Amino acid sequence: MEKRDLLYSGKAKSVYTTDDADLMILEFRDDTSAFDGKKIEQLARKGMVNNKFNAFVMTKLAEAGIPTHFQALLSDTESLVKRLDMIPLECVVRNVAAGSLVRRLGVEEGIDLNPPTFELFLKNDALGDPMVNEYHARSFGWAEEAHLDQMKALTFQVNTVLKQLFADGGMLLVDYKLEFGLFQGEVVLGDEFSPDGCRLWDAQTREKLDKDRFRQGLGNVIESYEEVGRRIGVTF
Ligand code: TMP
Repeated sequence: MEKRDLLYSGKAKSVYTTDDADLMILEFRDDTSAFDGKKIEQLARKGMVNNKFNAFVMTKLAEAGIPTHFQALLSDTESLVKRLDMIPLECVVRNVAAGSLVRRLGVEEGIDLNPPTFELFLKNDALGDPMVNEYHARSFGWAEEAHLDQMKALTFQVNTVLKQLFADGGMLLVDYKLEFGLFQGEVVLGDEFSPDGCRLWDAQTREKLDKDRFRQGLGNVIESYEEVGRRIGVTF
């Protein structure tokens, strides 16, 4: 597969066209960002770790019947994916209260959410990724009703698969963010699944093992990502 032009450069990944119009190459960089790009650092090995982590998780999700854009690992930091027409929304499921939910509602971090919650955020750094609802999404044309229904159903299906995967590795899947796009009219999981876009706590000690280590300056960020990966069976 021939890598052609840089199509888009995000905060942590760059996207390249290939000689096949339906396929793209994702390059995972070492750049690590938080607070809508206000805090940015390069963390050695992060691109490689997230690329391999994402490949492993996307493969598990595909095995469970969830349509994903992932096609193949190409190198330590590159993956081949289907080219999706991205929906500009982030789907967040929370099993345990943390992060912006705690700040927004003044609830205690760590309480179980039963049933888990589902939230939508608009992808817009300048606005700080505001929370929106399905009516906003439909009225402003970000996503149509049938696609929203599928996004929600797939996001909860991912919860079933990944809660178990991480539980088997002695971890609690606190929350996570997914992004979807359309491929030939079908809703398909895109972007990435890595410790950058979810919260994972050690099930016993509740130690944070995800990007909160970077956001909160706790140190050992990539060492923790590698530890999470090893516990679920990723080989780096
Ligand atoms: P939040 O608590 O900040 O709303 O985040 C919920 C989950 O979604 C958390 O696992 C981090 C993830 N997330 C991202 O990966 N990118 C984002 O831009 C946002 C808002 C959340």
